[in-house]
Amino acid sequence: MSRTPIILDTDPGIDDAVAIAAALFAPQLDLRLITTVAGNVSVDKTTRNALQLMHFWDKDVPVAQGAATPLVRKLRDAAYVHGESGMEGYAFVEHQRHPLELPAFEAIWRALNASEEPLTLVTIGPLTNIALLLTQYPDCKSKIKRLVMMGGSAGRGNFTPTAEFNIAIDPEAAARVFESGLEIVMCGLDVTNQAMLSPAYLETLPHLGQTGKMLHALFSHYRSGSMTTGLRMHDLCAIAWLVKPELFTTHSCFVAVETHGDYTAGTTVVDIEGRLSRQPNASVALGLNVEGFRQWVAEVLSLAP
Ligand code: RIB
Ligand code: CA
Repeated sequence: MSRTPIILDTDPGIDDAVAIAAALFAPQLDLRLITTVAGNVSVDKTTRNALQLMHFWDKDVPVAQGAATPLVRKLRDAAYVHGESGMEGYAFVEHQRHPLELPAFEAIWRALNASEEPLTLVTIGPLTNIALLLTQYPDCKSKIKRLVMMGGSAGRGNFTPTAEFNIAIDPEAAARVFESGLEIVMCGLDVTNQAMLSPAYLETLPHLGQTGKMLHALFSHYRSGSMTTGLRMHDLCAIAWLVKPELFTTHSCFVAVETHGDYTAGTTVVDIEGRLSRQPNASVALGLNVEGFRQWVAEVLSLAP
């Protein structure tokens, strides 16, 4: 089986941690580089968390630290969802790992040039690093197969009434990405709010080895849903689309990012009916086979130690 080589840009983040596990242990994927960005918590914390996860799973995927703030706005975080550390609830052991000396967008550029084939960018945090890459190295696009994101919403938001967190934190970066001409797959809240792990499955996690125990401990502090009603696996959807695209129903349409509205900045305007007569620039996931998703999650997490 040929594996899909990917770069994962992330702001761990408890649901990011599950996505990182799937990216590491899904046999269909080849995780070449992890880049961190400020989002759920500060970039120092998201970088520390990414390194802790590499140590936990004894993996040597390089980690490059990225942007500490959005392009033009102040950082607003989601510590209220993930805890002050960004991965509250589990005591990771001390280690001597460090990020690369390169900033994230430089590390991505270097990885793109070192690869014999175009790489897939998977983004599960604000898009600041990708916007910096596109601005600094406009010809990077020929080296990128596609960008699969967790972000946006064709409907309501989860950070403002109309904006999803990853887009709302850095709307200018997101607008740059959607205007770039890259092939984009957008896994927004339309599917990620459906992507829930059931309370029954969550109860089995402590019996699933070290990974299950660690995730169960983190999940007890994760506030996108609850252990008794189910937890939303937003970021895992981006990995699921790569491995099991048949679980998703997508619609090719034009997506714009609002950057000026006092109340609507960060909103992804998803033109499903083509009312704006603009060329489609994204495949937007609107439907999810929830049972199939849950089966895949159980399979892929069982591959982790
Ligand atoms: O809206 C959900 C997104 O915001 C996820 O990426 C989660 O980790 C948070 O960053
Ligand atoms: Ca995230």
